[in-house]
Amino acid sequence: MKKIWKVAVIGCGSFANAQYLPNIRKEANAELVAAVDIVIERAQKACEKYDIPAYFGSVEELIANCDFEIAIDAASIQAHHEINMAVLKAGKHLISQKPAAPTVELLTEQIELAKKKNVKFVCVPIHPMRYDLNTAKQWIADGVIGNAYYLKTVYTHGGPEYFQYRDADPSWFYEPGAGALVDMGVHALQVATTIFGPAKKVSCTAKVTTPMRMVRSGAYDGKLIRTDQIPDQYVITLDFGGEKMALIDTGFSEKAKNSPYLEIFGEKGTISFTEFYLNNPMPDLYIDYPEKGIRGWMKPMEGAKPCKKIHSQCCCLKDIVDAIENDAKPVLSPEHARHVLEIMCKIPQAITEGRTVELETTF
Ligand SMILES: NC(=O)c1ccc[n+]([C@@H]2O[C@H](COP(=O)([O-])OP(=O)(O)OC[C@H]3O[C@@H](n4cnc5c(N)ncnc54)[C@H](O)[C@@H]3O)[C@@H](O)[C@H]2O)c1
Repeated sequence: MKKIWKVAVIGCGSFANAQYLPNIRKEANAELVAAVDIVIERAQKACEKYDIPAYFGSVEELIANCDFEIAIDAASIQAHHEINMAVLKAGKHLISQKPAAPTVELLTEQIELAKKKNVKFVCVPIHPMRYDLNTAKQWIADGVIGNAYYLKTVYTHGGPEYFQYRDADPSWFYEPGAGALVDMGVHALQVATTIFGPAKKVSCTAKVTTPMRMVRSGAYDGKLIRTDQIPDQYVITLDFGGEKMALIDTGFSEKAKNSPYLEIFGEKGTISFTEFYLNNPMPDLYIDYPEKGIRGWMKPMEGAKPCKKIHSQCCCLKDIVDAIENDAKPVLSPEHARHVLEIMCKIPQAITEGRTVELETTF
């Protein structure tokens, strides 16, 4: 009989309810054994809704009282490091929402502790598992667009108080430790580094575009929040060495847009991503092969070596279970997350000093 992995979800807010709690049993041989939230009513509500046997008001109570094997940290950004260290110290496997820590040094502590405790540690976002990105990587490796030298990516929305329905107060997204860069920029940076690998240098311009915002849905509808402490819109450039570079548009200040999420340009063509990735779309492809008399856009057929499709952002659970069962490295590695974190930590320096800053980490 296949082993069923026991999972605890820590933080029962908007994201856990949308992606983790409903999908645990669908994504892996796993069951939910506990829900945790400092607002205990949220943990209790999750138990009732998803038929979970136990709920707790803190990670410490969870560790003292529950026989779980994998924890998913889906709490607010500022709480991740403390939760992650407690889970790893207890010798449990861990999936952390982003960013797992506020600094490179603290994330290194988590990585070292996971190694010492011999547990698997996965850091989301899940972009390296995406069907469309992996298809594009395969095309690039096969030379379909020749030398791929430039990518542009747009990871923006109108702000968590604007575009998502939420019953938890979204004010924390605008407080120190959180912000548009670590909440949205992390996606764009992970996507860019998934395609081109570790970056060597970063530069950036950023602004506070909207110093006050109003919550537009849910239990806090109409609440005014101060949003002038951290920039809410960023234009980032990355230098990958050689001729490779990226332009990243990210933040909470684009209420609507028609631009592609991502475009990758090469000497023989372009790969363009316009559809939401959870539909597992094929990217559009433009090729220019003068020697064959071919030039134009096409909708490619599914690849000869198709990558695995994903069904929800809970696919990270399958990644950690595969890593545990095969004693392998997860696809969503904490070392990749640390490189993205280093870029985010150096962006304020790049802005203040008005210059390009060198990067040191790799993955
Ligand atoms: N696409 C994505 O990858 C995506 C989208 C949205 C949010 N997120 C991430 O998911 C995480 C949660 O975001 P959200 O939108 O669900 O926020 P949220 O405010 O709706 O939920 C966070 C929950 O964590 C709880 N919490 C806070 N500190 C805690 C602690 N110490 N222990 C236990 N629970 C605690 C809060 O009470 C709240 O219920 C964040 O890291 C955010 O960046 C990811």
